[in-house]
Amino acid sequence: MSPTRPQPRGGGREAEQAAGSDIGEVLIEPDELQARVRELAAEISRDYEDGDLLLIGVLKGAVMFLADLMRHMTVPCELDFIAVSSYGSATDSSGVVRILKDLESSIEDRDVLIVEDIIDSGLTLSYMVRNLRARSPRTLEVCALLTKPERRRVDIPIRYTGFEIPNRFVIGYGLDHEQRYRNLEYVAVLAGDAEPQPGGPPR
Ligand code: IMP
Ligand code: MG
Repeated sequence: MSPTRPQPRGGGREAEQAAGSDIGEVLIEPDELQARVRELAAEISRDYEDGDLLLIGVLKGAVMFLADLMRHMTVPCELDFIAVSSYGSATDSSGVVRILKDLESSIEDRDVLIVEDIIDSGLTLSYMVRNLRARSPRTLEVCALLTKPERRRVDIPIRYTGFEIPNRFVIGYGLDHEQRYRNLEYVAVLAGDAEPQPGGPPR
């Protein structure tokens, strides 16, 4: 077999942007994402040195973040997934949540860390925290790659946050627009997502 030359990686910026796409301004570059994910993994590893850590990834958006985060963890940890859907419009969640795929493991007496892609209104997360707390974990904390503080409607403590971003609809690094763009290596604004006006309607 003859050696093959390395091919350009999928999800490259040029390919995506050339596709004449919805990709707007890049908010977080790949190296910034990776550096922050490493920092978070180091912080979490310190905090759970003596723990029994179970990471719960919220499908599908958290998949990229979770995979990178877990790779840099230096303490033993296990992995499970949950999938939820929020009733409501495409861009506004209602807080009424349905579990589409439940955990495989029991979380009783375990140290549970919910890993989310983005906290927007916080309604989905708040439901999830209530639901999981009823299963008696030893500890229950949240790690979110992104948060939009301006949009928050419920107050839930987020123990680990990657980046605070402005009130824009973002895609990439797991986040989708109509299921696409999750494979981008960076986080960008969805093109055409206008900056909200001060005093404008909530989004
Ligand atoms: P919340 O219940 O309003 O906090 O909704 C959170 C969920 O909405 C996230 O887990 C995402 O799946 C989705 N979401 C919120 N903002 C964005 C965004 O800017 N881009 C992509 N998905 C988003
Ligand atoms: Mg999500």
